[in-house]
Amino acid sequence: MQSAPNLVLVGPMGSGKSSIGRRLADRFGLAFIDADQQIESRTGTSIRTIFECEGEAGFRERERATLAELLSASSTLIATGGGAVVDPVTRSLLQERGFVVYLKVGIAQQLARLARDRSRPLLATDDRESVLRRLAAEREPLYVEVADLCFDTDSLGAIDTTVKLGRLLEQQWRPGCQQTHQHNETTA
Ligand code: S3P
Repeated sequence: MQSAPNLVLVGPMGSGKSSIGRRLADRFGLAFIDADQQIESRTGTSIRTIFECEGEAGFRERERATLAELLSASSTLIATGGGAVVDPVTRSLLQERGFVVYLKVGIAQQLARLARDRSRPLLATDDRESVLRRLAAEREPLYVEVADLCFDTDSLGAIDTTVKLGRLLEQQWRPGCQQTHQHNETTA
């Protein structure tokens, strides 16, 4: 059993961070916050426009600052953007201030779930599969590095995932502050 003030979901685009996060937050009585939505409401514009105007680097700076602020709170469930783990300072903060769940998903599922999506700038390309494969190769080790628990969402819908993941979290995570949050990854 590990103590951490917040629950955090990491994982690639289409892994279900927002839909599962909302349900898990209800289940555990936490406030749900989607980091991308926070960035959009603070800037008053879309992630796509931020990428267009400030480039990916500008977006990452906003993402880092937003997550640092969100993680300073307690009793929140934070759904991060798929690239949040790329930043080393964010990775440390996630581990310090959250019990981190890595939602795993395969490329075929991602492509299917995101087929109609036009809001993600990194997928504005004719060859989404190559982009998703490259991002997975770069980021998979980082998701694993920060995760306290890995959970495969490939074959389950949001409701079943919430039920199963909820049971695991009951066994493994205790809400609350601990000065030194032990990092100890398990896989489901
Ligand atoms: C990104 C994922 C998106 C969003 C942005 C960049 C990424 O979030 O932060 O489009 O780099 O993988 P979701 O994972 O919620 O789609």
